[in-house]
Amino acid sequence: MTASSLPSRAVRYHEFGGPEVLLIEQLEAAPPGEGEVRVRFAAGGLNPVDWKIRSGRSRIQLPLPVAVGREFSGVVEAVGPGVDDLSVGDAVFGSIPQGAFADLVVAPASVVARVPEGVPLEVAAGLALAGQTAWDALESQHLQQGDVIVVSAAAGGVGGMLCQLAVARGLRVIGTAGPANHGWLRSRGIEPVLYGEGLHERLAAAAPEGITAVFDQAGAETIEAALAFGVPADRINTIAADASAYGVRNVGRGAVHPPTLDALAALVADGTLDVPIAATYPLSEVRAAFEFLEAGRLRGKVVVTAD
Ligand SMILES: NC(=O)c1ccc[n+]([C@@H]2O[C@H](COP(=O)([O-])OP(=O)(O)OC[C@H]3O[C@@H](n4cnc5c(N)ncnc54)[C@H](OP(=O)(O)O)[C@@H]3O)[C@@H](O)[C@H]2O)c1
Repeated sequence: MTASSLPSRAVRYHEFGGPEVLLIEQLEAAPPGEGEVRVRFAAGGLNPVDWKIRSGRSRIQLPLPVAVGREFSGVVEAVGPGVDDLSVGDAVFGSIPQGAFADLVVAPASVVARVPEGVPLEVAAGLALAGQTAWDALESQHLQQGDVIVVSAAAGGVGGMLCQLAVARGLRVIGTAGPANHGWLRSRGIEPVLYGEGLHERLAAAAPEGITAVFDQAGAETIEAALAFGVPADRINTIAADASAYGVRNVGRGAVHPPTLDALAALVADGTLDVPIAATYPLSEVRAAFEFLEAGRLRGKVVVTAD
């Protein structure tokens, strides 16, 4: 360990596979460099991409060993040269390409934002990837009053926020979910529809006047139902299937954009955006956290927290 690096446990794996390949390793965190901050980890949001890469079957291929975790929250404990808008003690959240599940996270200050008063760190931990994805996908369609949209996996990490952002704009939102999530969707102004066989008929019954845009977080079924329904391909966005195979759009999260993170956090703070925490696990139980996520039935975000 060099003089100014500090011990930091991190979640990593050295081979692709199931949750059992996840290890907690004793590493060290470097001091923050130019434009960077070092954050004492409080919580991290799990995302399907984390296990897809871990499985070895993702189109995203990372060299081994892979350091796990893309979104996090915590408290700034050191500030590098050139950082003048963040200070030691600030509660922040953000997203990095890998390695966010560690006691200490070194990140560019340009990919973090402050956690406002009243927003729990566990909730903030799910905003920088899932939240900004929802925001960027919704923005890409330039929706207007009168649009009727369908959102699949409407109670999931991305879908849940996308639905609520759309409701806040006064749009009519139909969301697909399992029965256990229909009550929550209704409570947020979203009309629930069961996914699975017969989806096309249920959508036709829910929106006889037509659907003007579709945001898919679940895969082929929603896209096929939307195309059969006559929704134009350029009004269908998927982040969960091969968009090119259907000729539909594929807008996911763009570069991390702190003003968007600020806007998302402000919407959580004022109650517009409810981000349920489906489950929390201490970092030392990260395998169990992934098992829960990968089971596929949840509402909101799965979060790991500092032990
Ligand atoms: N390109 C990007 O920028 C980007 C960013 C983030 C995520 N993604 C991708 O987007 C997808 C969604 O991510 P996420 O974080 O929102 O996932 P998530 O939170 O794990 O999604 C869980 C939700 O999926 C729902 N679900 C499961 N099977 C379903 C089915 N057959 N039809 C409809 N809904 C179903 C579940 O509904 P019930 O519990 O109600 O049954 C659950 O609420 C993933 O494929 C992810 O990799 C892409």
